[in-house]
Amino acid sequence: MNVKKVTTHVLHEMKLHGEKIAMLTGYDYSFAKILDKAGVDIILVGDSASNVMAGFDSTLPITLDAMIYHASSVVRAVERALVVVDLPFGTYQGNSKEALNSAIRIMKETGAHAVKLEGGEEVVESIKRILSAGIPVMGHLGLTPQSIHKFGTYVVRARNKEEADRLKNDAKILQEAGVFSLVLEKIPAKLAGEVSKSLKIPVIGIGAGGDTDGQVLVLHDMLGITQEFSPRFLRRYANLNEDVTAAVEHYISDVKQQDFPNKKEQY
Ligand code: KIV
Repeated sequence: MNVKKVTTHVLHEMKLHGEKIAMLTGYDYSFAKILDKAGVDIILVGDSASNVMAGFDSTLPITLDAMIYHASSVVRAVERALVVVDLPFGTYQGNSKEALNSAIRIMKETGAHAVKLEGGEEVVESIKRILSAGIPVMGHLGLTPQSIHKFGTYVVRARNKEEADRLKNDAKILQEAGVFSLVLEKIPAKLAGEVSKSLKIPVIGIGAGGDTDGQVLVLHDMLGITQEFSPRFLRRYANLNEDVTAAVEHYISDVKQQDFPNKKEQY
């Protein structure tokens, strides 16, 4: 959609008109500027920053302060995209007042436009309290990486009927609570398509097939910066790991051979 600024209203219009929503994660100023200028609709400051920026092996360790640092860097770069920030693990579950305080800190200290949190019925009280302060909330169902120690594995979720029915019910509960959009992660494409069709809000998929209203990928995965992560759903659009390695090796060689700097590159 040719708009100056993507809002939650614009995203609903996109769903109504059948225009797919393109979302990517972003964690810093320089990349966020590139993503925004390229025309991505939503930049998610994901808690995947815990993995790809900080090197932890799960999303659990990242703090609210760290998310605020990443989100404020992204917001400074963005003119058009909607910026959504993940509420990190431990800042919203089981205590709706703490959830509201965490969301308020994100909105006040970063200038972001919305927050995202993982879970269904069990977090609906937190969602309602955040919404009551006028903060838009995006939901996240299916594979929810903050619950990795409950599930024990990152395999496809909701393959059996019981889990699929629970997911459908959670999706309805979240829509009724007032979330403006929903992420579905790593679930069967047929189920994701059914949920997307049954909801009025836009559904964004990752590893959830082509029948959702939009797609999201982790930036470092789709650019080929990360190498070790290769799920079936990941399409790599570049191989920056190789490109950056080649550039750095070239630089090292130029320095060692006293080719850099040359006469024109000095004062
Ligand atoms: O943190 C993240 O990057 C996410 C996406 C995978 C949706 O939540």
